[in-house]
Amino acid sequence: MADPRIIAVVGATGAQGGGLVRAIAKDTSGAYKARAITRDPRSEKAQALAKLGAEVVAGDVDDEASLRRAFDGAHGAFCVTFFWDHFSAEKEIAEAANMALAAKDAGVKHVIWSTLEDTRKWIPLSDTRMPTLQGKYKVPHFDGKGEADARFAEIGVPTTLLLTSFYWENFIHFGMGPKKDKDGKLALTLPMGTKKLPGIAVEDIGKCALGVFRKGRDFIGRATGIAGEHLTGAQMAAAFTRALGQTVSYSPLTPDQFRKLGFPGADDIGNMFQFNADMEVMFCGARGVESTRALNPELQTFDQWLAVNKARIPLD
Ligand SMILES: NC(=O)c1ccc[n+]([C@@H]2O[C@H](COP(=O)([O-])OP(=O)(O)OC[C@H]3O[C@@H](n4cnc5c(N)ncnc54)[C@H](OP(=O)(O)O)[C@@H]3O)[C@@H](O)[C@H]2O)c1
Repeated sequence: MADPRIIAVVGATGAQGGGLVRAIAKDTSGAYKARAITRDPRSEKAQALAKLGAEVVAGDVDDEASLRRAFDGAHGAFCVTFFWDHFSAEKEIAEAANMALAAKDAGVKHVIWSTLEDTRKWIPLSDTRMPTLQGKYKVPHFDGKGEADARFAEIGVPTTLLLTSFYWENFIHFGMGPKKDKDGKLALTLPMGTKKLPGIAVEDIGKCALGVFRKGRDFIGRATGIAGEHLTGAQMAAAFTRALGQTVSYSPLTPDQFRKLGFPGADDIGNMFQFNADMEVMFCGARGVESTRALNPELQTFDQWLAVNKARIPLD
């Protein structure tokens, strides 16, 4: 049997990259071996990946030379940036260029770039329906990634653009889950009106990425979007009601109310929800559920995700 193809995984100790390392570890075909890239190979999380059979190497997306070493000899590379660590779209663009240059130099055959739309293609800065942020963005954590797509093409790396979706884990870690209102009743308060939001269990992103590497050539030079389901706020509230065994209502905020919630990034996320809602048809259309399931047959529905995760959702 041929040697396994090495897949170098940026963000391997995190959510998206970790899902890919675990998917490769579970894959019984022996076709791939994960190379987990971390800033600290001795960390507990990195060592847990080594125990799963991953090779663990040092690398930092701000240091191109370290990426070049980490990508050396790899067939594939999964590339992701970490907006919420620094809130800078410009930093993400520079980091994406570092990854693209390192992949080109190392001769990587297939890069997956975890990206999102540059919303300014649909909502130019002159459009006053939502505020311009940081001087030149509408949704900074989308726009920087979308702007960086071109770097992979310009540098000439064989790339699949993987358009991800809202993690349902945001209901656990990002404080977006149902909360008790002043009457003690649970309410989901997202600024989505009656529109649908594509969402996904974050572990499924890595499984889809492995599906993209398996499909190989067919997916190079194109974008593919992934989602577990497209759901309205009312549908998500109904699913919470079923899972939690207590009524959860949907009580939509306006995007402006959401932007004014005051936590760091509230304006960015408020704009994001407004973009998702205003561009619902395009945004959901770019993330087909059946095409996602074709990449990852284990794709979870929201009900399935809730059944496993409901106890982790803080309701206070
Ligand atoms: N939340 C959502 O709904 C959602 C949806 C779609 C897309 N996204 C995007 O997903 C991205 C984050 O991905 P994630 O959730 O997988 O991240 P994550 O779980 O926060 O993982 C981050 C991992 O990346 C590593 N890391 C951080 N800075 C690094 C650097 N300079 N160089 C190398 N590695 C570094 C860290 O590992 P070490 O400490 O081991 O180095 C960390 O474990 C964001 O850009 C966000 O916009 C989020």
